[in-house]
Amino acid sequence: MAKRSTTFVCQACGAVHARWQGKCEACGEWNSIVEEVTEAGTAPVASGGARLKKGRVIQLEGLAGTPMDAPRLPSRIAELDRVTGGGFVKGSVILLGGEPGIGKSTLLIQAAAAIARNGARVVYISGEESAGQVRLRAQRLGLGDAPVELAAETHVEDILTTLSAGAAPRLVIIDSIQTMWTDAVEAAPGTVTQVRAAAQGLIRFAKGTGAAIILVGHVTKDGQIAGPRVVEHMVDAVMSFEGDAAHHFRILRAVKNRFGATDEIGVFEMAGDGLREVPNPSALFLGARDASVSGTAVFAGMEGTRPMLVEIQALVTPTALGTPRRAVVGWDQNRLAMVLAVLEARGGVRLGQHDVYMNVAGGFRILEPAADLAVAAALVSSLADTPIPPEMALFGEISLSGLVRPVPQAAPRLKEAVKLGFSEAMIPEGSVETGKQAGLRLRPIQRIADVVAEVAGGAPRQRVRDR
Ligand code: TYD
Ligand code: MG
Repeated sequence: MAKRSTTFVCQACGAVHARWQGKCEACGEWNSIVEEVTEAGTAPVASGGARLKKGRVIQLEGLAGTPMDAPRLPSRIAELDRVTGGGFVKGSVILLGGEPGIGKSTLLIQAAAAIARNGARVVYISGEESAGQVRLRAQRLGLGDAPVELAAETHVEDILTTLSAGAAPRLVIIDSIQTMWTDAVEAAPGTVTQVRAAAQGLIRFAKGTGAAIILVGHVTKDGQIAGPRVVEHMVDAVMSFEGDAAHHFRILRAVKNRFGATDEIGVFEMAGDGLREVPNPSALFLGARDASVSGTAVFAGMEGTRPMLVEIQALVTPTALGTPRRAVVGWDQNRLAMVLAVLEARGGVRLGQHDVYMNVAGGFRILEPAADLAVAAALVSSLADTPIPPEMALFGEISLSGLVRPVPQAAPRLKEAVKLGFSEAMIPEGSVETGKQAGLRLRPIQRIADVVAEVAGGAPRQRVRDR
């Protein structure tokens, strides 16, 4: 008889503890530890007495000459294929994370339909909705005629039986991994142990049959993929579907990808008839811009291979409190603190008595340090109440010494700006040659003090320093 053992597992990070405690010492989370019972015989640890078996080995160079490019299953939804690196790789497992209601199921039923229409066997397993509900949604999205197999199922062994019947599926969607459970372990569905064991079973199926599997994982408010976080290292790719409830566009980002780049993004818009691709996101992000007010700057950014222009908004106001507020949406809080410190120390701009609010328009999130210059310009513009010329685009990285440094890929950034009707650019001195080729009027910047002089140039210097 299999021996039962009781362990205490943190549901946030998967750490195993000997006894229950209020706080997980591994990740610092409170109230995340749950008692889980496992059958010792089925626990995924190698037992000492196991029979040794010789593994199969293949030669890396033996396959030279034959194309080793991973066979992919493209969805022909360009924004999705860009993020996966050209389609789902045969036998790979992808974890798609996102907050509940963001549109994961919608995206996947659209992808499933597109691939099934190309003739591949696609199975969509829902653990959250009935098969009828999934079909209704698909019909509403105009996908009712796509030959996708739908099933409402949460038991992994049953799912594997379903999948093994008939031709091997090319794509399997599991919506969501949190609802799945397997006989292999005795823990309750949704616990780390169950999620991990269920994922293991599905991953083994993918590797064995060559089916690509997408696991949906809901994330919690603070951005953690609850439970599924512990499967991140087991899967081949982790994608996150982001956006905020107040805006309709959604961004698909690769967080980890064994078969492609991780800096590409896909942009979609949630409409009445499902997710629509947004081939030109700059136009969308700059759409409703009021360029005549102070405190806004257009950052010429890059997302992977794609240039993207976004508006950065800053508001600098005298503080009513002892400690001034610094609030930022869409950018790194620490990066803002750094730009503020450099503005103060190297640019002579006093901000200690001011609240600072910064926002990236449209709910977009910027990860690049190349946005430093645009942020600094927006801050100075707000403080001096002097608008930045509306036809100006900016980029540049600011170092702690106050130097403004060139950033990679200046040419595509400037080309995109020209395409969208911008005629001027504030860029690092080092990018001037590229700027000339693009045919833009240039305002080269060497140090942060130049930014202050350029932006607040019209305003009396006193105002910038002492307001
Ligand atoms: P859904 O794909 O169910 O989200 P998830 O699987 O990530 O939980 O999307 C749910 C939201 O999307 C819902 O609040 C309504 C919205 N939506 C539309 O606006 N248009 C549509 O065509 C669909 C299907 C959903
Ligand atoms: Mg869903």
